[in-house]
Amino acid sequence: MTPGARIRPAVPADLDAIMSIERASFPTDAWSEAMMADELTGPYGFYVVVEQAERVVGYAGLRALPHAADGDIQTIALDASARGRGQGRALLRHLIEEAARRRVRELFLEVRADNPVAQGLYASEGFSEIGVRPRYYQPDGVDAIIMRLDVRAWDAARTADAREAGACT
Ligand SMILES: CC(C)(COP(=O)(O)OP(=O)(O)OC[C@H]1O[C@@H](n2cnc3c(N)ncnc32)[C@H](O)[C@@H]1OP(=O)(O)O)[C@@H](O)C(=O)NCCC(=O)NCCS
Repeated sequence: MTPGARIRPAVPADLDAIMSIERASFPTDAWSEAMMADELTGPYGFYVVVEQAERVVGYAGLRALPHAADGDIQTIALDASARGRGQGRALLRHLIEEAARRRVRELFLEVRADNPVAQGLYASEGFSEIGVRPRYYQPDGVDAIIMRLDVRAWDAARTADAREAGACT
């Protein structure tokens, strides 16, 4: 994370900042403002933003219904100026931690086949490819890669890492 940056829950007042990052990040298939507003205020979502010098520079969202065994990483994006500094990973981990708290066992996501940066992030957190939806992203006609994470295995690995980091040598 960039020094001074912090992750906090998203609030409706963040909508403009989020939409500006959304439109710049996904020029051909951005969500509409109405859809994003619903996501931010909906009962089953968990949206967070990363703020730097009081400016929202990224956001991410999880959807998990009460008592459901599975959930979805809905979206994650950073302003271009804030990428490549570990903040995408921090946002993703925040969502997975929340999924673990909600006792979600499996997390799913879709990622464009032409987005190796996001795929690299997801794979490095333990997501694996389970399928492809041909030409899912329109109007570009790009395939969606479907990925899955075993949340309990992820949580156990994180706990083991934390223990190792705290152990005396
Ligand atoms: C995808 C995204 C959220 C990643 O966030 P980020 O802050 O840039 O990434 P991080 O610095 O946390 O890096 C996490 C991992 O992403 C991958 N990554 C990041 N930048 C990369 C680059 N320039 N080239 C290749 N891989 C890269 C690496 O696997 C990296 O792990 P490493 O640092 O251990 O090598 C961000 O780049 C983004 O907003 N992209 C545009 C929107 C988007 O594509 N969202 C995902 C939709 S599914």
